Amino acid sequence: MTATLRANDLRVRPLGGPFAAEITGGDLNEATDDDIETIRRAIRDHLVVRLRGYRMDDVQFTRFVARFGDLHTSPDYVKDRKVYVPESPLMSVVSNIVENGVAVGHHGDGELDWHTDLSFTDIPSCYTMLCAREIPPTGGDTRFTDMYRAYDILPDELKSRLARLAIKHQASHNPQYGTWPGWDHIETRDVREMPGPIHPIVRTHPETGRKSLYLGRRFGAYIPGLVLAKSEALLDELWSYAGRPENSWSQTWQLHDVAIWDNRCTMHRRDSFAGLGRRRMHGLMTKGTRPE
Ligand SMILES: [Fe+2]
Repeated sequence: MTATLRANDLRVRPLGGPFAAEITGGDLNEATDDDIETIRRAIRDHLVVRLRGYRMDDVQFTRFVARFGDLHTSPDYVKDRKVYVPESPLMSVVSNIVENGVAVGHHGDGELDWHTDLSFTDIPSCYTMLCAREIPPTGGDTRFTDMYRAYDILPDELKSRLARLAIKHQASHNPQYGTWPGWDHIETRDVREMPGPIHPIVRTHPETGRKSLYLGRRFGAYIPGLVLAKSEALLDELWSYAGRPENSWSQTWQLHDVAIWDNRCTMHRRDSFAGLGRRRMHGLMTKGTRPE
C-alpha cells in the first residue's frame, strides 16, 4: 500500500508489519472533524496507530482524546485516587521515575505481560492513547498483537467449542496475589472465587463485525462451568495462539509519539527497561461497550 495524501494533510502509512500504521503531517492541535475521522478509520483498519511529529501538551492531548469518546479510567484510580495531572484528572502516568521518594506514576520499569486494558471491568475501555513525555535511550518498547488474527487461526473444532464459553476476568488481585485498592477484604487465592466480570471468549467488534479472541490477562482467568484443571488447560491452549511474532508489532518510542490502540481487538505488553533510564508516559482511555 502507498501513503495516502489527505486534503487535510494527514498522511496514513502502513508500517510494513501485519498491522499498525503511522500518521504524520498536519497539525493535530487544529484537528478538523475530517482529521478525527481519518484517524478513527486508520485505527479501525490497522488496529494500532502511531502519531509521530506532533506536540500536544496535556490539555491539548486531553481535548484530542475526548474527540474519540467519553474519557474513562481504571476503577483502581477511583478507589485510590491520585490525580497526576491537575488539568486532566483521568490521565494516568506510567513511569519509573521517583522524585523525593515518591513515584510520579505506576508500573515501574519491569516487563509487563500481555493484556487488554480494563478487561476486568464490566465495560472495558475502547481506545487507549499513550503519549511519550520522557523515554530512555533504549528499552521499554510496547508490543501489540492482533486478536482478530488469533481467532482466525484457531482450529475450527476449537472455534465451535468457544462459542458457548466465557472468561471470568478477576478484578481483585495482581499477579503477586496482592490486592488492588478497594479489594483488601478478598482473601482467596482460588481463581474460581475471585470477583470479576464474565465476558465472552470470542467477541464481535461493533464497527467491523469481525470476531476476535478476548483473553484479557492470563493471571487469574477462569472459564466458568469447567473444573479448574480443564479451565487452565483450555486457557493455556488459547494463549498459545495469541501474541505470535508473525501477528505482532513493536512500537519503539520517540519523544512526543502518541500510540493509539483498540482494546477490543488487540493486546499489548511492555519490555523491561530496568536500569536504562527515565520513562514517563501520559495515558488516557475512552469508554467502550460491554463485550458481546
Ligand atoms: Fe495496558
